[in-house]
Amino acid sequence: MVAQFASRGNLRNRVIELENVSTSYAGELKPAIKNISLEIRKGEIVLITGPNGAGKTTLLETILGLLKPYEGKIKLLGYEMPKDAIKARKYCGYLPQDFIKPAGEPFIVKDVVAMGFASIGKNANNGNILEALKKVKAVELLNKPIGRLSAGQQQKVLMARALARQPKILFLDEPFSSVDKEARHEICDILENLNRNENVTILIVSHITPKIEFDRIIKMKNGMVISC
Ligand SMILES: Nc1ncnc2c1ncn2[C@@H]1O[C@H](COP(=O)(O)OP(=O)(O)O)[C@@H](O)[C@H]1O
Ligand SMILES: [Mg+2]
Repeated sequence: MVAQFASRGNLRNRVIELENVSTSYAGELKPAIKNISLEIRKGEIVLITGPNGAGKTTLLETILGLLKPYEGKIKLLGYEMPKDAIKARKYCGYLPQDFIKPAGEPFIVKDVVAMGFASIGKNANNGNILEALKKVKAVELLNKPIGRLSAGQQQKVLMARALARQPKILFLDEPFSSVDKEARHEICDILENLNRNENVTILIVSHITPKIEFDRIIKMKNGMVISC
């Protein structure tokens, strides 16, 4: 803990840097996010909150290089975005909003987690798949079809897939939106452990405030950061 705290003051440990970033969607007059400047340091666990339409998802997707800003500068793990998005994204795990899979989805949990390993060119086997599922307390789901699981269970499996990539940064968009209170607490515990034990930087977008001791809470409204 001491080492992690000491590193917070170190400028070289900035993993996300935004300078006056604005993004708008094609055909829209008003930018979805405007003039955003912020820095996230290695090992921070950060909540990005604000009402629907505040620009939270747009901000995450802009940082990840999935949307191109029309002005401003972004660095993700030192890589210039979106130019070096492919390089930077190798070190990132992203759980998009509205992740629920349809009941007919053919993949079983084992395949879904294996995809996480494959995405970084690593061979999946029963050992590392089980290890990833163990981290999210979902070992018993190994052979279940993903589409037949509850939202909370699916969320855990997709988190295991994201963890298989051994991300330095985890981006989670509304991970609590369709899970019950019990699953929410479990997911909060998992995230806190990951942050503490493996020093994964975690950005959580949520319009509710989950029970996590955040290092920082970033509040957004009308496409702008109103407090940070
Ligand atoms: N695909 C899109 N096309 C056009 N406008 C969009 C699109 N997605 C989001 N927006 C608009 O951008 C703004 C920010 O949306 P979003 O980032 O999804 O907010 P939040 O995640 O905080 O709910 C809103 O005004 C929304 O209507
Ligand atoms: Mg959103």
